[in-house]
Amino acid sequence: EKGGHDFFMSKEIEEQPAALADTLRGHLVDGRIVLDEQRLSDQELRDIDKVFVVACGTAYHAGLLAKYAIEHWCRIPVEVEVASEFRYRDPVLDRSTLVVAISQSGETADTLEAVRHAREQKARVLAICNTNGAQIPRESDAVLYTHAGPEVGVAATKTFTSQVVACYLVGLALAQNRGTKYADEVEREYHQLVASADAVKKVLASAVEPTRALARELADSKAVLFLGRHVGYPVALEGALKLKELAYMHAEGFAAGELKHGPIALIEQDLPVVVVMPSPRGRATLHAKLLSNIREIQARGARTIVIAERGDETVRPFASTLIEVPVVPTLIQPLVATVPLQVFSAEVARARGYDVDKPRNLAKSVTVE
Ligand code: M6R
Repeated sequence: EKGGHDFFMSKEIEEQPAALADTLRGHLVDGRIVLDEQRLSDQELRDIDKVFVVACGTAYHAGLLAKYAIEHWCRIPVEVEVASEFRYRDPVLDRSTLVVAISQSGETADTLEAVRHAREQKARVLAICNTNGAQIPRESDAVLYTHAGPEVGVAATKTFTSQVVACYLVGLALAQNRGTKYADEVEREYHQLVASADAVKKVLASAVEPTRALARELADSKAVLFLGRHVGYPVALEGALKLKELAYMHAEGFAAGELKHGPIALIEQDLPVVVVMPSPRGRATLHAKLLSNIREIQARGARTIVIAERGDETVRPFASTLIEVPVVPTLIQPLVATVPLQVFSAEVARARGYDVDKPRNLAKSVTVE
């Protein structure tokens, strides 16, 4: 049932192109984005003037990416918060607030309690969930299901990338509803999302083996740092979470701009530092800033592992190891950049002799607060 793989996680990593395609399928009908369930009127949706995204762990990282898409397409302020913190600070919520709850299982206690709190305050709740009929979608006003299929490995992989595209679909649905995007633009963005499945297929074909080799080489490292900016920042956080969870290795993700505000003191000879580069095309300023961050790290003797767009020759002199990913639009970049990091953590865990599918102390579904 592992389809020739040693671990479910490896199989689930490979299943990502299909999971993305299945999650997107059927959501563009007559040029309009449709959700799976909507117990809210279009007018109620139009009245939304503030969005909160609540989720835990990997789902929270998908939520961070939702913020870029929704703010960009809809011009509504979006706040993203870990679900376990949300209700304790008495957030300002009312009928015109949309709370987007992201949960693979749909049973995570922290996220469920955040949903309940939001509804008590009259906010509208939209769930993104991978499990049909789970508690969180049952208690929500609208639902969009990810169709990643069952995920057996405790580490979230295909459900993460599916959540990201589901978040983007929600952004497009809101944009069309508010009129901040024309129908043809919504359609174009949708087709770009559909094309992401092919891009992920390409990374799987080109980056898996070199990343595995790198992971085996670095399996005895004491720690690994991950840096990114803009949409590369949640990727850095996700790369670090995967490594902690599976390889029990100290790992931290930073916004690259924060480096000089403290973390640079951690950089020492041979420390592996993974850097998620933005595209040198549309994001030239960001790209230049990250290049200078890499230079600083390299100058201090760290081992730089750079994930960059294919054809970006400017990074080559600063990369001890270069992992090339396909050229894609900005919002799709997190999908292609995350895949090598999933492979990396699984392979480090395997090399250290750990159970990749069942890391210690963790459960697939966390039903206590
Ligand atoms: O079922 P959920 O999406 O609500 O679970 C949330 C987190 O517990 C989950 O994403 C966790 O962080 C993953 N095991 C990380 O790989």
